[in-house]
Amino acid sequence: MTSPRPVRTAVFPVAGLGTRFLPATKAIPKEMLPIVDRPLIQYAVDEALEAGIEQLVFVTGRGKSAIEDHFDMAYELEDTMEARQKDKAALEGTRLAPGQIAYVRQQEPLGLGHAVWCARSVVGNEPFAVILPDELLIGTPGCMSQMMSAYEKVGGNIVCALEVAREETRKYGIVDPGETDGALTEVRGLVEKPDPADAPSNLMLPGRYILQPQVMDILKTQGVGAGGEIQLTDAMASMIGTQPFHAFTFDGVRHDCGDKAGFVNATIDLALQREDIAPVIRSFLAKLNI
Ligand code: G1P
Repeated sequence: MTSPRPVRTAVFPVAGLGTRFLPATKAIPKEMLPIVDRPLIQYAVDEALEAGIEQLVFVTGRGKSAIEDHFDMAYELEDTMEARQKDKAALEGTRLAPGQIAYVRQQEPLGLGHAVWCARSVVGNEPFAVILPDELLIGTPGCMSQMMSAYEKVGGNIVCALEVAREETRKYGIVDPGETDGALTEVRGLVEKPDPADAPSNLMLPGRYILQPQVMDILKTQGVGAGGEIQLTDAMASMIGTQPFHAFTFDGVRHDCGDKAGFVNATIDLALQREDIAPVIRSFLAKLNI
């Protein structure tokens, strides 16, 4: 096989209303909620940059300008910290280069497929990645980096897929799996949010995708699916059989930070990995006697 075309662009759908986290998300984008001291969106951006992504496209909506400010220059803050000789290490990775980042608007919440389609003119006719920031995937290297290594070998479309309990299939996109070879499983079908009784497997999509640009053409006319929304899962399903399509089993830990319990678990997990605060948290947890 000739080497597949490189993936240079990642799309971050961040227009969601975050209703599951109200009232915290009334005035703050859910992507800006911090796990320890880094907002969720920062973890997603770091994962993309580590994987060699050069161009970041945010699909935003009204009330999301804090995300733009977060990745911008913070002149007053930087200047004051410098004057007071404060260490600016904590700001590392937050100021993205001009031209490295683009913002497009999804004006109405019509679904994930529609959000991705809103990025089409920036993505152009190239393969691209999609990262859903409320799914926090922790690995070494990161999930997208692992997927890129697999992509270099097989090309086509690759979705990350992980096992969940059967009763959870109605919350996620689910894979109909074929043959497995190491971390790669052939994808025979994809279904959005099936009932456990109808689900083809318990392999869910945790929001990491490498897609060929043809998906944009499909999204253009994609009708509504589960939940009355234009689903990325349905558009991807139409490509199966026309292009290579694999599910990738990620080596690492997943936290669904779109869910309150998952968010708290992520906070505990990442706090315990931080040398500066882990001892205090560990002794607090020990005192709880649980
Ligand atoms: C979206 C996708 C779904 C995926 C999930 C991951 O659903 O449509 O396929 O499994 O993200 O969190 P949403 O959570 O936006 O309903």
